[in-house]
Amino acid sequence: MTLQKNHNLSHEIVLDDVKCILSTTDLKGTIKYTNPYFSEVSGYSKKELLGSPHNIIRHPDMPKVMFKLMWDRIKDDNNVSMIVKNRAKDGKYYWVTTFFEKKYHPVTKESDGYLAILHAAPKNAIRAIEPLYKRLRNIEAKYGIHASQDYLIKYLMKEGKTYDQYVAELTQQKNLVSEFFKTINKLTS
Ligand SMILES: Cc1cc2nc3c(=O)[nH]c(=O)nc-3n(C[C@H](O)[C@H](O)[C@H](O)COP(=O)(O)O)c2cc1C
Repeated sequence: MTLQKNHNLSHEIVLDDVKCILSTTDLKGTIKYTNPYFSEVSGYSKKELLGSPHNIIRHPDMPKVMFKLMWDRIKDDNNVSMIVKNRAKDGKYYWVTTFFEKKYHPVTKESDGYLAILHAAPKNAIRAIEPLYKRLRNIEAKYGIHASQDYLIKYLMKEGKTYDQYVAELTQQKNLVSEFFKTINKLTS
């Protein structure tokens, strides 16, 4: 299957459901590896991506607090999933569910960076998260990141879920599909 570009007014790039975008970074978030699908979707060549900070594809609609949460978690050795809106080189956007984890050097066993695996985000997850992100951004703009963090904590308390449970529920359907294709790929390779 190939990447479908949706040329409607929204300028959204719709990702292939069965492909994933891979990247690794050093400990500071400088890109060290990307797979070809990363370039295909983002419009940046491998040469442009390698050595660039990962915020090269940061979309201004993403609240700062989400990246703070992500960095706090992965630095502490906790994997984390997030729903992220990214910005392609031409200004179009694409939504992904991402899984971040810390990497360890196979020989020295020391941490040498991070890994991200990105899949197309399910539509229901985007619909649910977009208003929350908008609210967080507005709070950040007016009162700063501590206020948006407080809002996020209270929001999750009201939902009666941890952050992980909240994201897992939103992305569950998608994960099942991608796990299925991962298994098929393993069996057929
Ligand atoms: C392995 C890895 C993958 C990342 N992937 C993304 C990504 O897809 N989109 C994004 O905006 N930030 C991503 N980041 C986070 C960026 O490094 C950065 O923290 C974020 O874009 C916020 O940028 P800012 O700190 O300049 O505001 C990733 C970080 C790591 C370590």
